[in-house]
Amino acid sequence: LQGLGADGYVPVADPAEADLILVNTCSVREKAEQKLLSALGRYRRLKESGRPSLIGVAGCVAQQERGRLLEKAPFVDLVFGPDAVGRVAELVARARRERRKILETKFTTPGSYEFPRAEPDPRRASATAFVTIQKGCDKVCTYCIVPFTRGREVSRPYPEVVEEVHRFVQAGAKEITLIGQNVNCYHGGCTFAELLHRVAEVPGLVRLRYTTSYPREMGDDVFRAHRDIDKLARHLHLPVQSGSDRILALMRREHTAAEYLEKVARLREVVPDVALTTDIIVGFPGETEEDFERTLELVRTVRFDNMYSFVYSDRPGTWAARHAAELGRVPRAVQVERLERLQALQREISRQRTRRFVGRRVEVLVEGPSKKDPTLRQGHTTHNWTVLFEGREADSPVGSLVEVSVERANHFALFGRLAEGPGRAAMR
Ligand code: 5AD
Ligand code: SF4
Repeated sequence: LQGLGADGYVPVADPAEADLILVNTCSVREKAEQKLLSALGRYRRLKESGRPSLIGVAGCVAQQERGRLLEKAPFVDLVFGPDAVGRVAELVARARRERRKILETKFTTPGSYEFPRAEPDPRRASATAFVTIQKGCDKVCTYCIVPFTRGREVSRPYPEVVEEVHRFVQAGAKEITLIGQNVNCYHGGCTFAELLHRVAEVPGLVRLRYTTSYPREMGDDVFRAHRDIDKLARHLHLPVQSGSDRILALMRREHTAAEYLEKVARLREVVPDVALTTDIIVGFPGETEEDFERTLELVRTVRFDNMYSFVYSDRPGTWAARHAAELGRVPRAVQVERLERLQALQREISRQRTRRFVGRRVEVLVEGPSKKDPTLRQGHTTHNWTVLFEGREADSPVGSLVEVSVERANHFALFGRLAEGPGRAAMR
């Protein structure tokens, strides 16, 4: 991590052997904070028996809780927010030297923000890597904590992005995912579509992905990039959040359900075989059964390949949390019941979406052995479907592109075996 290597730190597998434990946190949904506190409880006991000597908390929960975190967990030595990630080595050194608690949660001014530089390590190379192209978010979705914890939107200059992609590829990565909260508003010296073209030119790069997009800002130039750039995955993650115009307005998503459907139709016109995934929140304050049915209807209309769905949770300081009582909180049991109905519908659609691959060959970027079943190899297709297949490691090394004959599929994966004989993949 960021400069720590230069100070002699090396990763260890067992927390009991670590001299320094840094917990990186996310506060998008509430469970993260509870998980953090229970993880910290475990690390506290380790610290009491001698190791680690330092415990730190980074990320959005740190940004949101600041000094309160040091009160709740007094055995924590340093707390720093997302803007300080680039200075982690310096903060750790200071905590050691000065033997006092370090709290760093000020935002840097957008003009002076420097993106932390990743340090790809060829000895621990994986087939896939993430490159940050943007930090913060200038949107104001009323349920969302990100604008509070991540601050204003800043784009990383494109030469830096391209250079980092180069370094990852040199270290062995084959697939890069560009990440930002709202990549469509990227303005690091060129447009987002231009950035995609520039990154795709990096020699040795095999596949390119990005996340996340904001429907209103999703332009035709990006749709065309999916058609024109071979390396760009035939997959788009486009969060919709709800199918009800009334809820979308309360969420301040700046589009209606019909406008979302228009974007999808346009995308499918340009890239007919594209895979589409989304995020949906159920049980937003004031959501009625009728609103929820609109969401089901939109899901049936679009037929997403896959979906991440969440029960609405109050995030401190957001507009939705402040107005939840007056809009009418959806009871927990109703939220959960809606989530289950939505997920059941999506499972059925996903099953139908994967069926088309059965009996065909797909091209798979190999990531390694499957975690669940180490006798199988695992990778992803351009459509971002997980593929689990039988094959020898020698014939499907990490980072290679192989063809797999799909024999079976369910709602979350394709199953098959390494294809034999010549022949291009029927589907990329
Ligand atoms: N409650 C539930 N889900 C949320 N998300 C963001 N904020 C909340 C919240 N307060 C979900 C959205 C977003 C995804 C990353 O997390 O669906 O797209
Ligand atoms: Fe949050 Fe995404 Fe909306 Fe930004 S665009 S406020 S990150 S949900």
